[in-house]
Amino acid sequence: MPAIVLIGAQWGDEGKGKATDLLADRIDYVVKFNGGNNAGHTVVVGDEKYALHLLPSGILTPGVTPVIANGVVIDLEVLFAELDALSARGIDVSRLKVSANAHVITLYHRTLDKVTERFLGKRQIGTTGRGIGPTYADKINRVGIRIQDIFDEGILRQKVESALEVKNHLLVKIYNRRAIHADEVVNELLSYADRLRPLVADTALELHRALDSGKTVLFEGGQATMLDVDHGTYPFVTSSNATAGGASTGSGIGPNRVDRVIAVVKAYTTRVGSGPFPTELFDESGEFLRKTGFEFGTTTGRPRRCGWYDAPIARYTARINGVTDFVLTKLDVLTGLAEIPVCVAYDVDGTRFDEMPVNQSDFHHAKPIYEMFPGWTEDITGVRSFDDLPKNAQAYVRALEAMSGARFSAIGVGPARDAIVVLHDLV
Ligand code: GDP
Ligand code: IMO
Ligand code: MG
Repeated sequence: MPAIVLIGAQWGDEGKGKATDLLADRIDYVVKFNGGNNAGHTVVVGDEKYALHLLPSGILTPGVTPVIANGVVIDLEVLFAELDALSARGIDVSRLKVSANAHVITLYHRTLDKVTERFLGKRQIGTTGRGIGPTYADKINRVGIRIQDIFDEGILRQKVESALEVKNHLLVKIYNRRAIHADEVVNELLSYADRLRPLVADTALELHRALDSGKTVLFEGGQATMLDVDHGTYPFVTSSNATAGGASTGSGIGPNRVDRVIAVVKAYTTRVGSGPFPTELFDESGEFLRKTGFEFGTTTGRPRRCGWYDAPIARYTARINGVTDFVLTKLDVLTGLAEIPVCVAYDVDGTRFDEMPVNQSDFHHAKPIYEMFPGWTEDITGVRSFDDLPKNAQAYVRALEAMSGARFSAIGVGPARDAIVVLHDLV
């Protein structure tokens, strides 16, 4: 089972970091293939808590080679700050490989992300402000800066100058900000060149060789299916392909190499930022989920919007990604609820939709149709086998599984590394 893709099933923060960490002692490589430091993964190891943004979560396990592949956008200041912070805590980060083709987030991308959001006012996307969208826009527009450009000062300067020629017009004339000088950007990027050089590799070639020699590679998606630029709730999405297909384009391995697609799904739903969210709660139930599940962003600290499990979204995720296994997380958060509603379909202006409507306005109007499940009161954080879960918790999990389009292979019952019930081996 050499190539495994792990992705988010909902709008992010499903617990992908913990799931990756869980698998890491059985894998050789962990590859981040999309996004950048907009991601925030919290991994709890014993008494230690790690918050990772740009680095893949598998980096915490000794012996694993972490890879930042071509599909990622890299903020070099964040990269080295994160590496230094992990090193200071005794984590070996020396194996990290960075693709020469990955794009670089510069000062002007971060600035443009913030000013365009402010300019949008009420229509803002609620981005993380890390420069993700403008960097991917430049990539698609063929005016981006790549990691390899940093090693050729002449080319770097030429590219930065020509990008700034247009962007300074925007910054000064439209957004009323100061112009950015090319030297400022070029000098900052060049200051990382010496530290960066030994990390840079042809990561696609290295991953091919690893797979050919029987190594196990885990492709760890950032963000999630509903935030995917093609398949999510556009325009309220991130700017990359967070779905399983992104693992192929974002790392340079053929789609036929992927053996398994694991989707991480929360036992309820959360979302950060703007955009439609049919099961969102505005009452004390939403407050309960936020407080009990500690639903505050790892990256921006924003309170996450909370709502019930949405089965049409899980089925959509199963289809779009070719999901073979779900990891259900945070079941413990639901403990204590008398009844747990699950969205089984939508009512859109009087018409029933059993599946995700393709039309965005329909999804904006979608009202959840709920089925109710009885809750449980027993503390489940110490449970390690499915049969030891309260009967109502078992029934809830089996009902979700039946509605979600793929088998449930593991169930998270707490934030700790070992707080998991495994039903089917994932590696
Ligand atoms: P990611 O972005 O998908 O990696 O998820 P985040 O780390 O942003 O958010 C998930 C949060 O839930 C983290 O704080 C995890 O420590 C925590 N977590 C993961 N699995 C479980 C679980 O099964 N139960 C509980 N209570 N917390 C969990
Ligand atoms: P992980 O990997 C949750 C959301 C932002 C915003 C939208 C676009 O931790 O699950 P961007 O800065 O990417 O242009 O913002 O996407 N967003 C996330 N929400 N978890 C994430 O990552 C996210 N990464 C981006 O809140 O709505
Ligand atoms: Mg997160």
